[in-house]
Amino acid sequence: MAGSIGILTAGGDSPGLNAAIRAIGKSAIRAHGMNVVGFLDGFRGLMQNRYVRLDEDALSGILTIGGTILGTSRDKPHRMTVGDERMDMTGVMLDHASLLGLDALVAIGGGGTQKNVLRLSGRGLPIITLPKTIDNDVWGTDTTVGFDTALTIATEAVDRLHSTAHSHHRIIVVEIMGHNAGWLTLGAGLAGGADVILIPEIPYHLDRVATSISSRKASGRTFSIVAVAEGSRPVEYRIHQQELRDRIAATVGSDRDLAERTLAQLRAGALSHTTNLARSLEELTGLEARVTILGHVQRGGTPSSVDRNLATVLGTAATRFIADGVVDRMVAVHNNELLGVPIDEVAGRRKIVPPDHPWIRSARCTGVTFGD
Ligand code: F6P
Repeated sequence: MAGSIGILTAGGDSPGLNAAIRAIGKSAIRAHGMNVVGFLDGFRGLMQNRYVRLDEDALSGILTIGGTILGTSRDKPHRMTVGDERMDMTGVMLDHASLLGLDALVAIGGGGTQKNVLRLSGRGLPIITLPKTIDNDVWGTDTTVGFDTALTIATEAVDRLHSTAHSHHRIIVVEIMGHNAGWLTLGAGLAGGADVILIPEIPYHLDRVATSISSRKASGRTFSIVAVAEGSRPVEYRIHQQELRDRIAATVGSDRDLAERTLAQLRAGALSHTTNLARSLEELTGLEARVTILGHVQRGGTPSSVDRNLATVLGTAATRFIADGVVDRMVAVHNNELLGVPIDEVAGRRKIVPPDHPWIRSARCTGVTFGD
């Protein structure tokens, strides 16, 4: 089949994006004789008609490179910032796709992207998506491009923190990415032998975390590693958040200043959560505590072989789907099988860690505390 396709990367970058772009592009050209363009900076490039031609030369030498050669952004087609305004630019994007004679758009993205593309597919642009995020929280697929690399980086960090925590008899609280899902923290905590693992799916009791560290101390193990996801919170905090939300709901419209202040309090609480946790554990256990925030190190650098191969398999499947006329699907992996999950089934859902996941059960059996 000849024809034309566009590719874009959207949302936070993750290792393996270039491997996916390369696989989509090369297989589109070689196996299906298609023309390929890449839009720059996610949906913004589609809106501004900024694109590059992706021929075999442009696709060479990028397999092992981190980030995305196309650039990315967190823009949403229906809420684009244009000047000082937020505008629905879906129509403009569809016009540009049609001007270029695109038969399909391949969007590589996480949960947000799966939702955002519905605006375009709902208005007639055939779409295929690929799931990518270091968070591994895209619904409908067992794994996502970038997760394995980030897991390897975070695990190595937890490994390395052991010797320094041990030498100084300290608690080291290591913050791992993941606002809504704890896959990365759980995986790295389990693989790295963390003593405490705190994830968004399991609100924790501070006193139970402190008690587990104190009993380690009493038995002569005077250091502890606490792996904490960005989005994990104590049970008490959840209650407090609800109070704040109720206050905002009650004041918006009547006292906007108070609503703004309350919102700022809410955000500040979330930002300083890991530091507050370390301070509290220090007070409750009498051990010194330090915080390590891994941050964007987890998203940077060369992708692992697992991510390169996953991206290559998903990318080549994407062009096969398009050539076969199977569109508006996310290319997913389930039990080692490739499948096309309808995007409208994926959109708006999140794959979080189930409470009885084997990683959680095994961690509990080996003495890990979740603080619940
Ligand atoms: O969505 C992936 C992710 O890395 C999350 O784990 C993290 O919370 C978020 O992106 C950070 O986003 P940004 O790079 O926009 O600050």
